[in-house]
Amino acid sequence: MKKLDVVKAILTEIRSPVLEKASAFAPSNIALCKYWGKRNTELNLPLTNSLSISLGEKGANVIVEVNDRDEIIVNNIEISLEDKFSQRLLNYINLFRPPNLFLKFTIISNIPIAAGLASSACGFASIILALNKLFNWKLTNKQLSILARLGSGSAARSIEHGFLEWHKGEAEHGLDSYGERLSFSWPQLCVGLLIVNKDTKKISSREAMLATVNTSQLYASWPEQVAADLFAIKEALAQKDFNLLGASAEKNAEAMHATMFHAVPPISYSTDETIKAKQQVWDLRSHGLPLYFTQDAGPNLKLLFLENEIESVKKHFPHVEIIQPLVSMQ
Ligand code: PMV
Repeated sequence: MKKLDVVKAILTEIRSPVLEKASAFAPSNIALCKYWGKRNTELNLPLTNSLSISLGEKGANVIVEVNDRDEIIVNNIEISLEDKFSQRLLNYINLFRPPNLFLKFTIISNIPIAAGLASSACGFASIILALNKLFNWKLTNKQLSILARLGSGSAARSIEHGFLEWHKGEAEHGLDSYGERLSFSWPQLCVGLLIVNKDTKKISSREAMLATVNTSQLYASWPEQVAADLFAIKEALAQKDFNLLGASAEKNAEAMHATMFHAVPPISYSTDETIKAKQQVWDLRSHGLPLYFTQDAGPNLKLLFLENEIESVKKHFPHVEIIQPLVSMQ
């Protein structure tokens, strides 16, 4: 099964744009229960479900316009079409456009690119949302999530705001593998972006997942870990039990990093600064501050805490950027 087969199953025809220009925003998302490992690498189909929180106004905005040549501009810098990122983007949009249609993409991302802050998730999600308008496809969020996933797995969870569960699905074509918004709300929940290192990551999540699935002995226990953590996280969201939420999310992230640490050769995204920050969180928690973290495929941490702890968190982490993702979603 190829990506184009999936596109054909969703779009009845490849058509010309109905607009000259369209724009869309998609939020970044942070997984509280992680996606790590694919059952199909071509279609980005996961081996387990995952659950995320979208980051409100943090994400990517894209303007797509009909042009006389392909052009890609990211954060005001024109990117060469030979660049790895451009190639990935062009391969993706070639799935949807008729021949001889050239497009200009102006992408503005307000989160650091490729530093484990889900920049590709919101990037691909914003592109598919903008294409939906440009071509007037009128797709549902479920269909948009499936198409976003073809660009980047976790983009399946960036089509909407709030908490989303990405169903792994069972089908070979993956038309049952999409992000679904969950009805929980929790406006007091805060996410603190703790950037300890802005460098581009050395190994992509795609490569690291593959190496983990193929070589890590610990990976066998991962699906069971996910099932238990997902159950606990949903329970925590339903009961608004913050300690259960934080503890489950932190444990899940640490378990994911443990599976990659056991890959051959080992993979570690943590730097000395990451370890130091984790130890600080554990220390503060042992002194009574309800503070937890999660970590993705990069050295940076996302702190999890409630609104009433904002001042304490700022005091201990003066550089943290605090987001209340669900405050405007009540
Ligand atoms: O979709 P990708 O290839 O960027 O992978 C995302 C992987 C993690 O961020 C580590 C986990 C997740 O569920 O977002």
